[in-house]
Amino acid sequence: MTPDTTAVACTGLSYSFGDTKAVDGLDLTVGEGEVFGLLGPNGAGKTTAIRCITTLLPVPAGMVRVFDHDTGRDRMAVRRLLGYVPQQLSADSGLTGRENVALFARVFDVPRRERAERVAQALEAVDLADAADRLAGTYSGGMVRRLELAQALVSAPRLLILDEPTIGLDPIARTSVWDQINAVREATGMTVLVTTHYMDEADQHCHRVGLMHRGRIRALGTPTELRRGLAERQGTDTLPTLEDVFRDVAGSGLDEQSGGFRDVRSTRRTANRVG
Ligand SMILES: Nc1ncnc2c1ncn2[C@@H]1O[C@H](COP(=O)(O)OP(=O)(O)OP(=O)(O)O)[C@@H](O)[C@H]1O
Ligand SMILES: [Mg+2]
Repeated sequence: MTPDTTAVACTGLSYSFGDTKAVDGLDLTVGEGEVFGLLGPNGAGKTTAIRCITTLLPVPAGMVRVFDHDTGRDRMAVRRLLGYVPQQLSADSGLTGRENVALFARVFDVPRRERAERVAQALEAVDLADAADRLAGTYSGGMVRRLELAQALVSAPRLLILDEPTIGLDPIARTSVWDQINAVREATGMTVLVTTHYMDEADQHCHRVGLMHRGRIRALGTPTELRRGLAERQGTDTLPTLEDVFRDVAGSGLDEQSGGFRDVRSTRRTANRVG
């Protein structure tokens, strides 16, 4: 692994839904092996940016590269490098845990001969081996999120993209999801791009964070750099938290342009289904 390899590069990435500019000239670079946190208020454009990077939303060539591939030119090559845990739940409650992961192994082109073993390994890695043959509909919220992690890991991705992987989970379940991500990362050198609204998680687990607001990165650095930067601007001796930095960048109160009813509703729905 060369430390200087770029895993994700967005250059002037823009994406609109009708008149809504969800992503507006986003520049973002994630290095190989890095854990990068994309933070920002509801409606900032995080999920849209991620869906562009995963090739689920089409963007013109020249805007997004994943390792050496341009998403606009070589969608399939990019998909083969990725594991993705979407914000909306993706596990099928009518299938067992093992069947859910096996489905992803097929979709992500894991060679047929290796499938059964890779599925078992992925379930083992997220501590679901014992529950593997139960219907996912009987799982707790934390187990569902771990199952989705197994789905994303089964293809042995070089880049794991997680959109709010710990939403609605209790503190112990959140820690367990992060422990499992970090264990795989340490074993394989996998790059991680994650969004979260939990600033303590970002502070603890992300090497660098980008604070996104209205479609663009407004602050970028290690959590400590951002916290020190705010302390300097405010002229205080006590180190502010990452949450203070978030408030400073995103402003407080409701913002008409971002985070409408739709966003809150869809986030709640995810939280309810997990919980
Ligand atoms: N399918 C869609 N159709 C129309 N507008 C959309 C769609 N998806 C997102 N948007 C709009 O794009 C903007 C960015 O939404 P996005 O979901 O990317 O934000 P987010 O940062 O992921 O928010 P959250 O933290 O709530 O998940 C919002 O204004 C949202 O209303
Ligand atoms: Mg989102």
